[in-house]
Amino acid sequence: MTAIGIHDIEVATGHHVVNLTELAEARGVDPNKYIKGLGQDEFSFPAPDEDVVTMGATAAHRLLERTGAEGIRTLLFATETGVDQSKSTAVFVHKLLDLPGEVRSIELKQACYSGTGALQAALGIIARNPGERVLVISSDIARYELDSPGEPTQGAGAVAMLVSADPALVEIEPASGVFSEDVDDFWRPNDSSTAVVDGGLSITAYLKSVEKAWKDLEQHGGPSISDVAAFVYHQPFTKMARKAQAHLAAFTGTELNDGALDTGSVYNRRMGNSYTASLYSALTSLLHHEDGLTGKRVGLVSYGSGSVAEILTGIVRADDATRRGFRDRVLGMLDSRVRLSVPEYEGMHEKAMPSAEDTETAAVTKSPFRFAGVRGRARHYERA
Ligand code: HMG
Repeated sequence: MTAIGIHDIEVATGHHVVNLTELAEARGVDPNKYIKGLGQDEFSFPAPDEDVVTMGATAAHRLLERTGAEGIRTLLFATETGVDQSKSTAVFVHKLLDLPGEVRSIELKQACYSGTGALQAALGIIARNPGERVLVISSDIARYELDSPGEPTQGAGAVAMLVSADPALVEIEPASGVFSEDVDDFWRPNDSSTAVVDGGLSITAYLKSVEKAWKDLEQHGGPSISDVAAFVYHQPFTKMARKAQAHLAAFTGTELNDGALDTGSVYNRRMGNSYTASLYSALTSLLHHEDGLTGKRVGLVSYGSGSVAEILTGIVRADDATRRGFRDRVLGMLDSRVRLSVPEYEGMHEKAMPSAEDTETAAVTKSPFRFAGVRGRARHYERA
């Protein structure tokens, strides 16, 4: 059977950064609650001329500079921060990337899970047509109300993956474990730019889903847990990965690689929750920072509120030096974000709801693409 998987991967994030020690001080909270209790140091915040389209296009642009676009006939864009009720984010990105007309461009939604749904769809398309490649983009902006428990877990980021036969980076194995259950743990109503969340329920729903999905994977020919060298998780905040791994270890009675929780959360600690992109920025962080993984199996644990979970496994193909070679670029991107004071961030948070009123957007972003504004109630994007 042809090996199919992730050939290459890239991360992008928002223009601004908010420091969580400063936010804790402003909220009258011990900074250790955010830094140690949640496992978060900072979060990314987009400029007014950035959104999921510009972040996703930026990640994909950097990826395609290395791989070229040849063979791409499908562009799947996973997000829960959609910019229109009808037109997909994928169509905007298709234009920004100058892709040929002969491409199907679609948006997928199911909270933080849909990046994994998109990856599964890509694997299926390539199984039928191994000569094709699929561009999968996950991009989101996580936003909760000011001064709410979720506020320190906000964030923004995008991950682009090129999925192909005979991949250079990670071969995804055919077996997977899935679980769906209707739960009101987290959602975002149509008239709100911020999520509604039951924090306690969301954590128990996540842990239950991990257990159910793992058991389903075992029943569908998945590997023994002792043959998984490292797990990466959807990380609404990086402590959640620790909770999920402790749960997985406890109910399977296995000791798991806790060091990989650190190497798999370097970017997430600094970007915050990027919803659909979170698991894949964690995978990127692990691949860039964990040595000795070549030829070994990694487990990918995906959870999206509402809720859907899936656990996939993959075999790492690229060598340590190649994988490590990409980390300075991501760290440099994180270092170069422009810091917002807490009052500046609060002012921008209030104006976050996407509007359909005609407007021209001020040029701020340093990314290759920008949201230019709304004309005739239609969104317009351009090269920055
Ligand atoms: P909270 O209730 O304010 O926090 O908000 P807490 O009191 O539970 O404290 C958090 C941790 O900090 C605890 O550690 C405390 O002990 C510790 P734990 O017991 O959990 O290990 N702590 C301290 N540690 C050191 N020094 C201190 C200190 N003080 C306290 N001084 C909550 C936490 C997660 C509820 C909140 O941030 C929230 O509502 N977040 C949003 C929801 C969320 O992220 N849920 C996660 C699972 S659902 C999911 O992953 C899906 C999602 O990504 C959306 C999607 O799918 O689209 C959210």
